[in-house]
Amino acid sequence: MHTDTVPTISRHDYQPYPYHLPRVSLEFDLNAAQTRVHSRLDVERVGDENQPLRLNGQDLVLESVALDGRTLSAEEYQLQDEILTIFPTSASFTLQITSLCKPAENSSLMGLYVSGDKLFTQCEAEGFRRITWFPDRPDVMSRYRVTLRADPKQYPLLLSNGNLLEEADLPDGRHEAVWEDPHPKPSYLFALVAGDFACREQAITTQGKRDALLQIYSDRGSETKTEWALDCLVRSVQWDEQRFGLELDLDRFMVVAARDFNMGAMENKGLNIFNSAYVLADKDSATDSAYRAIEAVIGHEYFHNWTGNRVTCRDWFQLSLKEGLTVFRDQEFSADMLAQDLSGAEAASARAVKRIDDVSTLRIAQFPEDAGPMAHPIRPESYQEIGNFYTATVYEKGAEVIRMQHTILGEAGFRAGIDEYFRRHDGAAVTCDDFVSAMESVYIQQNPGKDLDAFRRWYSQAGTPRVKVDLDYNAETRTCSITLGQRNEAVGIERLQSPLLPKPPLHIPFALGLLDQQGKAIPLEHDGKTAETVLLELTEEQQTWVFSNIPQKPVPSLLRNFSAPVIVDVERQEADLILLAQHDTDPFARWEAVQELATRQLLALTRSVGEEQQPEVDPRIIETWKRLLLDADLSAAYKTRILSQPTEKELLEKTSPMDPAAAVKASRHLRRQLGEALASDWLSVYRNSAGSDEQYTPDPLSSGRRSLHNLCLYYLMAAGHPEAKPLAVAQYYGATNMTDRMGGLSALVHFSNSPESQEALNHFYEQWQQDPLVIDKWFALQASAPGTTVETIKSLMLHPAFSLRNPNRARSLIFQFCMNNLQGVHTSEGYEFWADQVIALDQLNPEIAARLARAFDSWARFTATNRDAMQAGLQRIQQHPTLSRNVSEIVSKALN
Ligand code: ARG
Ligand code: ZN
Repeated sequence: MHTDTVPTISRHDYQPYPYHLPRVSLEFDLNAAQTRVHSRLDVERVGDENQPLRLNGQDLVLESVALDGRTLSAEEYQLQDEILTIFPTSASFTLQITSLCKPAENSSLMGLYVSGDKLFTQCEAEGFRRITWFPDRPDVMSRYRVTLRADPKQYPLLLSNGNLLEEADLPDGRHEAVWEDPHPKPSYLFALVAGDFACREQAITTQGKRDALLQIYSDRGSETKTEWALDCLVRSVQWDEQRFGLELDLDRFMVVAARDFNMGAMENKGLNIFNSAYVLADKDSATDSAYRAIEAVIGHEYFHNWTGNRVTCRDWFQLSLKEGLTVFRDQEFSADMLAQDLSGAEAASARAVKRIDDVSTLRIAQFPEDAGPMAHPIRPESYQEIGNFYTATVYEKGAEVIRMQHTILGEAGFRAGIDEYFRRHDGAAVTCDDFVSAMESVYIQQNPGKDLDAFRRWYSQAGTPRVKVDLDYNAETRTCSITLGQRNEAVGIERLQSPLLPKPPLHIPFALGLLDQQGKAIPLEHDGKTAETVLLELTEEQQTWVFSNIPQKPVPSLLRNFSAPVIVDVERQEADLILLAQHDTDPFARWEAVQELATRQLLALTRSVGEEQQPEVDPRIIETWKRLLLDADLSAAYKTRILSQPTEKELLEKTSPMDPAAAVKASRHLRRQLGEALASDWLSVYRNSAGSDEQYTPDPLSSGRRSLHNLCLYYLMAAGHPEAKPLAVAQYYGATNMTDRMGGLSALVHFSNSPESQEALNHFYEQWQQDPLVIDKWFALQASAPGTTVETIKSLMLHPAFSLRNPNRARSLIFQFCMNNLQGVHTSEGYEFWADQVIALDQLNPEIAARLARAFDSWARFTATNRDAMQAGLQRIQQHPTLSRNVSEIVSKALN
């Protein structure tokens, strides 16, 4: 397929569907090679007479169509370009369609597909049309009744959405199960699962005293690894009741783990299907971060039951309505779990750990997207392939836009807004604007005469705003004025439009504190209250606020808790950053000050990379690092964040032109110097943070301790300390959990190309070859190791355990190398390899290929040699004769 032939869908072209489909009945004759689907649709016209009924279908064989029981001849319907058109003559009728699909041949993992010896579905966004002919759009909501028939030996368990009505053995030796979902839903929330599974379950009683059964299904033999997932699910149910007053509306809520899955997981009504990486964990095979990721994804999919399923999207341009909101909810769930049982500053620091991780993700994944050729507002204006818009912008920036509404309204106000949203829209398919309107109804009560008009622009403007801060202190009047100015530059395709339209200002909540020269917080009067942190609502190009009773020139603590997804431009002395690093009471801003210090140092290093002698690291940075490392008041988890230098990728983003070799070199230089200068401290903290042999739990305290322990080892290895390698070897072989084991192994593999590291890698493979999720880690570790070249990756691809068809495996080896191994991939062989893999993957799985195709979105910002080679790679992909719509959209935008 070629770009000029791919239609572009625009948000403004939305038209309501002219028919209602109150009831859908589906019968499946399940078979991996060929599955027959009989559908019966009850249809009612809503619009004018004589409107054709258009149904979507893809890769289906149409067997028959009947209208009100009469089979139509081929002249009575139209079948063209994946659309089946019927010409009904009455206002209400039934349509019966029989068609075939081929699950075993479906390597796209959209629609009905085979994974191992089981059958799964993935319908969001447009996979249902690969199962049966249907108006496959989110604003068509129906009640589903589903009959599944299959061979009981191969498929003993038959699951679909809702409640199990009956099970029976059939005369032909097959068995069947009938499911009915009482909640009307769009087709993207349909699911079925068939196969042999183990189940772990728990009965619960909801807040409203309803009984419900929670179930986790997984491959037989892996039921020992689903305890944590079930525990997370129980806590998710309780959390949504307590924090949002939202109760489970089903008798039965099922989660099923699949080995082959394109994304993280899917919130199908009552039957969530998960990538097994976000379900399975035990202490021997999963790291602490895997445990936290499972908690986040279980929470996320469960929370969709209200934000996504009860209230869904009118069209796919509204995707962030459910995704931004649900990511915000899962972030808050995770933060609340970390802060459980804590209060005051300790709770704040525990929550900050989550905030730091989320902001780092935003900066690594979303900021570059917002500055590159795929830049789009959180509510995109157009697309060619919706599968390409499950992006960091829609998800992560979308969550920031929800978080800003929470920050502006406060917890109680936000809750009132959510209540109003459900009061207005429960059971409907709505828009992002409907959400903001519900929130605005609360905002107007709080701020008579104001509105959220400027805030709404967050939904229509792409790009990361820059906020410039100027501070002016007047010693005579003891006043300090703070001026904020915002700049919203043209990004992505906007830059091709001429004349460049000025972009209007956004509503930016900017949290600010002031410290005195001793590092003490200065109380600030604002809005009739006195507080250490004030929220400035910037709604114009530039505004000034004046604070009085400021005894001396203050040091500002800016954008506390990252109150808006913006870049702050400010001139700051090193000394101010050092003061903030020691004293800022906002744990996020404190971390930020340390990051800024390190970033400045790193940028200075990148500039001197060509020089003979690399400059020494500023002793004040080393001093700051040392103080933080030895600070007894900081939690280990927080310390790990504050003592980690920005990643190579973050640094690369800040070089101009982007220079991967310089970024890699500077990063390594800084970490070696920090390792050497503080070697004895790393060593003593390493020894003091050693785990005891008591029972492993993934709780925040002990996992924080393990993360600090591993960080110390990392710096010791970076320094080439004589004790480091023996410690890593001992930690690897002596570990009693995967976090410690991976810590030891990655220290070995990342820092020493030695016989010990090869031995440990071999040992690891021998030990874990039966566990695919662990072998993913084995591939990923090697893919990201410093000495790894294209040759290494190619020989790993020949390993019997490698397969391009399994998305987790492809991600762990190929994506890991292409996206995270800056040293290995930014070579001419690296770019060539990448282009080859995009093309190869595209023949199997367009959605996954299109993600890999985005690895060099920002090619135009690189140094000339890199830039030309990346461009050549993109052009080679674009010229390939059989590109999917997915990849074609990505490369044509990149080359624009
Ligand atoms: N709604 C899912 C989630 O975020 C993501 C599914 C996306 N699927 C896809 N094939 N793009 O929870
Ligand atoms: Zn989601």
